[in-house]
Amino acid sequence: MTPRTAIITGGTTGIGLACARSLIERGHRVAIGARRAGDTAVQAEVRSAVGDSVMLAALDVADRASVDGFVAQVAEALGAPTILVNAAGIYQEAFLQDHSEGAWIDQIEINLSGAFRMTRAVFSGMIDAGWGRIANIASTAGTKGERGYAAYCASKAGLIGLSKATAVEGAPHGISCIAVSPTWVETPMMENAFDRIAMAQGITREAARAIIAGSNPQGRIVQAAEVAAIVDFFCSDAAPGLTNVDIQINAGADW
Ligand SMILES: NC(=O)c1ccc[n+]([C@@H]2O[C@H](COP(=O)([O-])OP(=O)(O)OC[C@H]3O[C@@H](n4cnc5c(N)ncnc54)[C@H](OP(=O)(O)O)[C@@H]3O)[C@@H](O)[C@H]2O)c1
Repeated sequence: MTPRTAIITGGTTGIGLACARSLIERGHRVAIGARRAGDTAVQAEVRSAVGDSVMLAALDVADRASVDGFVAQVAEALGAPTILVNAAGIYQEAFLQDHSEGAWIDQIEINLSGAFRMTRAVFSGMIDAGWGRIANIASTAGTKGERGYAAYCASKAGLIGLSKATAVEGAPHGISCIAVSPTWVETPMMENAFDRIAMAQGITREAARAIIAGSNPQGRIVQAAEVAAIVDFFCSDAAPGLTNVDIQINAGADW
């Protein structure tokens, strides 16, 4: 296994953090970027979860200068990144008739355009290296409409399209790109959804969790480590032909 420099956006919690853990265990040099990744308290929490080797720096994927500055900082400290995991994302509920411009723009800017900015910033370095792996954490919401989540669904559908275009452009250079699309995953993002469902239906948090688990044929909620395992395999030397696909982790749901 060749140790590489890996960037994980949104790696301070949830799916990104699980990806950071598995790539560090593989021996890669991992840099995490998130808006609060420069905060001392956040850094202490992440280091206690994945160890002291991880690099952490503030990154806002909605801001081109922040993206380009972050990638330059990582390249300087750890070498040119050849693994990119775009896990930064937000999720806001809004029905179409009430959808604010702000909620639309924020989700498109972070979930979709953020992944584009990150990809653009690392792509030349991957071409120079003749090797690259880009994993975009999309969602089953990218291929199935969900009531109340127009911007989120649109951002994730766009991310799956971006992944396919990146895969075909990258293939002649040894760069692979996949989308990984889970259904609900038990992370801080989802815990907020438990709270919203509980409040809306006047039920307990545990009951809200049971409703979501029960909506999956497996009767369970997907865990972040399951998503990280796919990313880990994709970035390993065992998967040179794995590219240009959207891999769903759907707990049996026929989305
Ligand atoms: N949980 C699920 O059920 C589920 C299902 C399918 C797909 N996904 C997708 O999986 C990805 C990770 O989700 P998660 O559940 O792990 O969420 P999470 O625990 O809420 O983590 C989101 C991460 O994104 C970062 N982030 C948000 N906005 C950012 C920005 N503008 N620039 C840089 N970083 C930003 C957050 O840190 P800061 O706030 O400090 O920036 C945090 O590190 C998301 O793209 C999400 O859409 C999640």
